[in-house]
Amino acid sequence: MSQATNQSWGGRFSEPTDAFVARFTASVTFDQRLARQDIQGSIAHATMLARVGVLTDEERDAIINGLTEIQGEIERGEFNWSVPLEDVHMNIEARLTDKIGITGKKLHTGRSRNDQVATDIRLFMRDEIDVIEVELKRLREGMIELADREADTIMPGFTHLQTAQPVTFGHHLLAWQEMLARDHERLLDCRKRVNVLPLGAAALAGTTYPIDRHVTAELLGFDRPAENSLDAVSDRDFAIEFTSFASILMMHLSRMSEELVLWTSAQFDFIDLPDRFCTGSSIMPQKKNPDVPELVRGKTGRVYGHLMGLLTLMKSQPLAYNKDNQEDKEPLFDAVDTVRDCLKAFADMVPAIEPKKDSMYEAARRGFSTATDLADYLVRRGVAFRDAHEIVGQSVAYGLKTQKDLSEMSLDELQQFSTIIEQDVFDVLTLEGSVAARNHIGGTAPDQVRAAAQRAREALSALQGQA
Ligand code: ARG
Repeated sequence: MSQATNQSWGGRFSEPTDAFVARFTASVTFDQRLARQDIQGSIAHATMLARVGVLTDEERDAIINGLTEIQGEIERGEFNWSVPLEDVHMNIEARLTDKIGITGKKLHTGRSRNDQVATDIRLFMRDEIDVIEVELKRLREGMIELADREADTIMPGFTHLQTAQPVTFGHHLLAWQEMLARDHERLLDCRKRVNVLPLGAAALAGTTYPIDRHVTAELLGFDRPAENSLDAVSDRDFAIEFTSFASILMMHLSRMSEELVLWTSAQFDFIDLPDRFCTGSSIMPQKKNPDVPELVRGKTGRVYGHLMGLLTLMKSQPLAYNKDNQEDKEPLFDAVDTVRDCLKAFADMVPAIEPKKDSMYEAARRGFSTATDLADYLVRRGVAFRDAHEIVGQSVAYGLKTQKDLSEMSLDELQQFSTIIEQDVFDVLTLEGSVAARNHIGGTAPDQVRAAAQRAREALSALQGQA
């Protein structure tokens, strides 16, 4: 083999790779992150090859020992990554041959980098999904407990960001929690399609060796071998599904972030975030900025970008493997890191939210938030809804002029607009009466919030059982 050409495939080449092309086509600078999974996959492959008699037990043991040592070198930062060796796979294989000689060259029997890399990314994604799931569970748990604690805390509910009707803070938090419950299901659903073994597809058509793909699948904890070799080496749907899960999750976190940012402002003044989640300003000494939710909101953009990037990467690709697919890794790595960090930030921060109950209550009181309750009261006494709407509209106009909330008006004042109104109207005009009256499944009544929190806990532990 010529020294001047690449050692792994240099046989048919008559001149060395152009230095720029070598750098341009290499992926080792980023795919070395797959080293642990690459070694895990190779150990399973060698074990299977020995089981079907393609390798001897001695060869298998030499390979496994060599790979285990290499794993240690990588973990200790002693491994010398080489760009001319292109990628993580050839770097590790070359080092194995350095260490154990000719037997190292037998590891690649019945395999190609195409099925190898597809296996590595799936192993990597499975590991990362499991880490992300832990953070997502922690966030959901914290949110449910805070919601339970704040089941009686009254705040304004909004539509069009205008005060609409009073709700409980616990109810608002459980709305967030529902978003995350759907994200959790999507994540576990995605994991099912990640957990399929490409190895054995070889370059594209399978291999002539008597391999047993069920053995490899079992050794690596995959549910089954991929059905079709052409599809196995070229499928990246799971990467798109993950970034699609990630995009929807980030959209949810950005909505929560936006509310946290608004609520910490002097104008809303609904919550306090502990100082450890905020930073100051170098010029304005009074500032305490909600950087963490702002950054999560901002990072949503890059995750959406990765989804678009991967969809576009796969568009129109003919079967089977194409070098294009090397471009799948950086967006996936960044999506995984971003989602994990944003979930960690939220899981730490949400239980530490300090609601300013008086301020929330005051805001709900100011905005005529029980106007619908007055209309419902009139309807229960036989007034048609449209007429009731008109009567309440006039009462609100009067309240705006006299600077009084509906609950602050006297019975005489209210009776100017309808003589049907009696003393018991004040049971529904108070904020407490208003929220307590919405007493059905999915409603904001404190008792319903506590029951919903309990159901959410049960749903969460039922989902945990599936992973
Ligand atoms: N670095 C490559 C990738 O990420 C590995 C597979 C290369 N296969 C090949 N036939 N060149 O996709």
